[in-house]
Parts: sequence; structure tokens; C-alpha cells
Amino acid sequence: MYNTLLTDLSDGILVVTINRPEKLNALNKEVFAELNLVLDEIVNNSDIQSVIITGSGVKAFVAGADIAEFVGLSAEEGIVVAKHGQGTFFRIANAPKPIIACVNGFALGGGCELAMSCHFRIASDNAKFGQPEINLGLIPGFGGTQRLAQLIGKGKAMELILTGNMIDAATALQYGLVNHIVSLENLLEKAKELLKVVNAKAPFAIEAAIKAVNASLDYSKKGFEIELEAFGACFSTADSKEGIQAFLEKRKPVFNRQFES
Ligand code: COA
Repeated sequence: MYNTLLTDLSDGILVVTINRPEKLNALNKEVFAELNLVLDEIVNNSDIQSVIITGSGVKAFVAGADIAEFVGLSAEEGIVVAKHGQGTFFRIANAPKPIIACVNGFALGGGCELAMSCHFRIASDNAKFGQPEINLGLIPGFGGTQRLAQLIGKGKAMELILTGNMIDAATALQYGLVNHIVSLENLLEKAKELLKVVNAKAPFAIEAAIKAVNASLDYSKKGFEIELEAFGACFSTADSKEGIQAFLEKRKPVFNRQFES
């Protein structure tokens, strides 16, 4: 039914697998469009009680937004891309049914942001998290600057976003980014075990709880708006063009490190 997603519904739990393993499940336009379709299905299909999002293969959950689609974007186009990403991830965060991430490998950039938009996260022991956009001369644009700070605290978020360094599953657990670590083979089982407990509760209360817990965080629109503008502005720099091109050419970027107007 979908081109880039696999879906499997059993016992009220919909498993959504992002399925572009040859590109480490990078989020291109089609994945975003299909994620929005599956979100419609999640809301409208009463057989779905809760949802797991995971990645195909043993290497990656999602290795980021598809960098190939970033080539040549103007600042305005960058904002449009970020708005679309933020909008999709807001739909996940505000979904009336629990959506949890089973992080089965790299969760980088948009992949980390996707996992953070889910209601909570479980990781396999090979999982790796990071916001490496800085290496492309960019910043996280799909809610990452806001949600990472909310989840692990401003200091640690700042370090990860400014260095672009990755953290392993054990560090993610220590930081509170994930709730549990299990082996890759047990990842979906662990998630299903937890969701079975949740699925036995009253749906109205589940929806109300999600709404209330979300409201406990300062989802100040301003932070997200600042992120949009700043993400877009990065695309008007020569450094971001160099960072994106260097990734695609499999070489290290050479940044000129000058601020541009
Ligand atoms: N966008 C587009 N393509 C991506 C991608 C992304 N975010 N991440 C990986 N890929 C592609 C690679 O280009 C490669 O494609 P190819 O085989 O056609 O050349 C394929 O997925 C496999 O990735 P590769 O880099 O060869 O795997 P690796 O094991 O050497 O490295 C990573 C794994 C995750 C460290 C590396 O792929 C990476 O750094 N990805 C980008 C992460 C990133 O910057 N994300 C934020 C984007 S905003």
C-alpha cells in the first residue's frame, strides 16, 4: 500500500517500518507524504490502539533527512522544508494514540527528531543518536533544537548540536533520551509488551494524558519559529552548500567559516 513504509497491524498495535534500507531509511519527500497518510490512518482506524515506528534493517532507524534533497535550497525553500518536517512531527507528538519509537540503529538528524517526536523511545543496544546537521553547515530543523533540550536538558543538547557528536544507547539511557535498552531481537517484543499494558487502559484517558503531558513542556511556538528561520538562513550560506556537496561526494567539507549576509 505504501512505497516507503511497511505497516503491520496486530493486537491493536500498528508497526510502521520506514523502508529505505539502502539509504539508511533517510526521510525524503515521499516518506514524509506517506507518514502523513499513515497518521490519517492512525487517527481514523479504530482498530489501531497504539503505534510503533521503527526502521528497516539492522543498521539504521533513520539516518536523517535525505541530504540529496537539500542541494540548492534557498533560505525560503529551507523554511518550507522545515515547516513540513515540524508539521509532520507535531502530528506525531500530538497524536491521540500512543506512538513510540523503536530505535534499531542510527537515529541521526531528522531520525533523532522523529524519535523525539514520539511519545517515548526504546533503543536496541546498537542504537546511536545525534544531530549532525552542524557538519553540513546546518542546524536541526524538524523540532530538534527544542525537543532535545526539553528531553535531555539545555547543556547536553547544546553540546550534541554544536559538536554533531553521536552518543551510544547507554549514554542515551543515562541522558533520559530513551526509556529502555534491549537487544535488537527483543526490540519490538519489548515495545509490544509495554503497549499491551497501555492498550488495556481507557482510550479517552490515554488521549487526555498525552495532551496533558505534552502541555507540561514549554512548546513555546517562538522557539520553533526561530528554528524555522535559522534553518532556512543556513541554506543561503556557501558553507551549507559545501557541507551538503561534500557529504554527497563522500569527502570532508572545507568550511570558509565566514559569516555571510
Ligand atoms: N541522506 C541521504 N542519503 C543518506 C543519508 C542521508 N541522511 N544517510 C545515509 N545515506 C546514504 C549514503 O549516501 C549511502 O548511499 P550510497 O550507498 O548510494 O552512497 C547509504 O545511505 C549508506 O550510507 P553510508 O554513508 O555508506 O553508510 P556508513 O555506514 O558509511 O555511514 C552514517 C553511516 C549514518 C554515519 C552516514 O551515512 C552518515 O553520516 N549519514 C548522514 C547523517 C546525517 O548527517 N544526518 C543528518 C541529515 S540532516
